[in-house]
Amino acid sequence: MEFQHSDYHNIYSHHEPVLLKESIENLITDQNGIYIDATFGGGGHSYAILRKLNKGGTLIAFDQDKESIKRNFIKDKRFHLFHNNFIHIRDILNQNNIKKVSGILADLGLSSLQIDDPERGFSNQLNCPLDMRMNQESSYSAQNVLNECSKKELFNIFYEYGEFKNARKIVEKILKKRFQKKITTSLDLINLFFIHGSFKRRKRFFARLFQSIRIEVNNEINILKDFLLKSSKIIRKGGRIAIISYHSLEDRITKYFFKKGILINKINLKNLPFRMIHKKVIKPSLQEIIRNPRSRSARLRIGEKA
Ligand SMILES: C[S@@+](CC[C@H](N)C(=O)[O-])C[C@H]1O[C@@H](n2cnc3c(N)ncnc32)[C@H](O)[C@@H]1O
Repeated sequence: MEFQHSDYHNIYSHHEPVLLKESIENLITDQNGIYIDATFGGGGHSYAILRKLNKGGTLIAFDQDKESIKRNFIKDKRFHLFHNNFIHIRDILNQNNIKKVSGILADLGLSSLQIDDPERGFSNQLNCPLDMRMNQESSYSAQNVLNECSKKELFNIFYEYGEFKNARKIVEKILKKRFQKKITTSLDLINLFFIHGSFKRRKRFFARLFQSIRIEVNNEINILKDFLLKSSKIIRKGGRIAIISYHSLEDRITKYFFKKGILINKINLKNLPFRMIHKKVIKPSLQEIIRNPRSRSARLRIGEKA
């Protein structure tokens, strides 16, 4: 059955799935296969995958956020949802006696449900406690990062994850502030920095600042590398891995992995080559960006196991 955009909206209106048609159409090569949605979120991609699969198909989904699991609206015998980090993908499949799968999708980052909830502390637009944990059971939050990480650790976070050339200056400000008073809210953090120039420039600076802390809190880069390695071992020949990323660091890791069979930290996968389905990265159309501005930074890459 063809997926219609309006179908999804009728069911679930808070979170719009990004690059939906492009990702699902490229992901599914066998309608009776086993598929993984590693990032269930609001369930939009899962719902669309199930619509494409036949009766014999199976979909296994993960999310580390228990709010996302609670909101699950999909009731389907072919669907199995786990409250877990996708780093455990192999263990979960082993426990269910599954050796190989036909396709894996990961739509990285945050859902709108997470961004818009002030309690979660992800947004730099709302004044809220600095939290940023995707998994509410984790004991490491943005407050721990800002108030407890060493000078060197903070430098690495802003230099590596935020790609800030002036990371040292950012760290100095944080160290000075936290010496006087604990940094606990997003406003505490925003008030530390005066950014010269346009509104756009300020917006970009704070987006990168918050994103780099979030990456650290959720260990996103190391987990993505590990996930790609594990996925490459469980995908069957001809099966596809689709990754939607939202910043250049994730996209670079994915690109290298599919193109050259290597992770940036130089683990060589000579015997596990992928073929890129599209030479160029897939970006949202202008129509999609107008409908859903949060999709603007999304980048989709698809690798097929050769
Ligand atoms: C962009 S949203 C996914 C949206 C989803 N595709 C949809 O259509 O609604 C990303 C989701 O992945 C989850 N997530 C991110 N990293 C994860 C990880 N390592 N393990 C499990 N879930 C993760 C987040 O909690 C969030 O709910």
